Amino acid sequence: MALLFRSDIDSPAWWGDELRALVPDLDFRVWPDTGAVAEIDTALVWRPEPGLLAGLPGLKAIFSLGAGVDHIFADPDLPVGVPVTRVVDADMTGRMTEYVLFHVLRRHLRHDEYRDQQARGEWRELAHPAAAERRVGVMGLGVLGGAAARALADLGFDVAGYSRRARDMPGIDRFHGADGLEPFLNRTEILVCLLPLTAATAGILDERLFDALPDGAWLINVARGNHLVEDDLLAALASGRLAGATLDVFADEPLPASHPFWPHPAITITPHIAAISDPRSIAKQVAENITRLRDGRALINVVDPGAGY
Ligand code: NAP
Ligand code: GLV
Repeated sequence: MALLFRSDIDSPAWWGDELRALVPDLDFRVWPDTGAVAEIDTALVWRPEPGLLAGLPGLKAIFSLGAGVDHIFADPDLPVGVPVTRVVDADMTGRMTEYVLFHVLRRHLRHDEYRDQQARGEWRELAHPAAAERRVGVMGLGVLGGAAARALADLGFDVAGYSRRARDMPGIDRFHGADGLEPFLNRTEILVCLLPLTAATAGILDERLFDALPDGAWLINVARGNHLVEDDLLAALASGRLAGATLDVFADEPLPASHPFWPHPAITITPHIAAISDPRSIAKQVAENITRLRDGRALINVVDPGAGY
């Protein structure tokens, strides 16, 4: 049986080497060189084109190359009943925590203002509150959001977290569900979005949400571009409702050259690199699932298709 690899951003050569080192007899095929499609029983994918997976009649498992699975569930022809797994990985979690800490600290310590002062040759001290007085809110308290929230709390920030269901996290003020959103936002000066993209969360970063934040709040979106209503962000920045935003993800990637976010002085852009999928670490869980499938054992990191994450 064979694994089909399909991604336009991940290196097939690197993934092939890492996986063959762990599963030496693996028949690793790279789309579009599928060979006989009936022999393909697993697919390792990032943003597969709609219909691609439906064209694999022997498919027994779909492995996401990322933590998110929205790029798989977006396929209207996704084969029903085939388990979908996602990345849960310590290396990825560490990378995301570093990114979130860096951008929260950058805002907290007024780094951009000091950079502007330096450009003007200006020596002036700017006040900033103690970490314990800085209220950071993390939307999505799962593997990545939970780790980022804990790391922020360990640094002494006043951290709250927002999730779908009630969650117990010592040291983090917890909010959940529709009723929990507004009070969570009302107390959040720096908002980190680490939600999965689902029907319930698409467009959640909109005018209504920005209006519930204190004036001059800061947004860090490291989840998905489609969480954000782009025009609402531009309006919130223009009105001063938001002071700035760090964006790692975009509805249209790569971000088009003509996009108004590029020249915006209050927006920091990174090219979807907050937590890359490093095959040296992540290949282990893919290999584990290939072995489990061969042995007829339950797969790890399977997502709930009902919840969509
Ligand atoms: P996860 O472990 O599945 O956690 C998801 C969290 O979001 C959970 O706490 C969940 O609540 C909460 N949630 C889901 N739907 C919600 C809703 N409607 N309202 C409120 N909370 C909701 O996911 P993860 O591994 O932390 O990854 C999160 C996302 O990060 C991924 O889906 C992906 O889009 C993004 N990501 C981005 C990068 C990057 O480089 N920028 C890298 C990796 C991942 P419950 O706890 O109640 O289930
Ligand atoms: C990246 O965005 C991921 O979902 O892992």
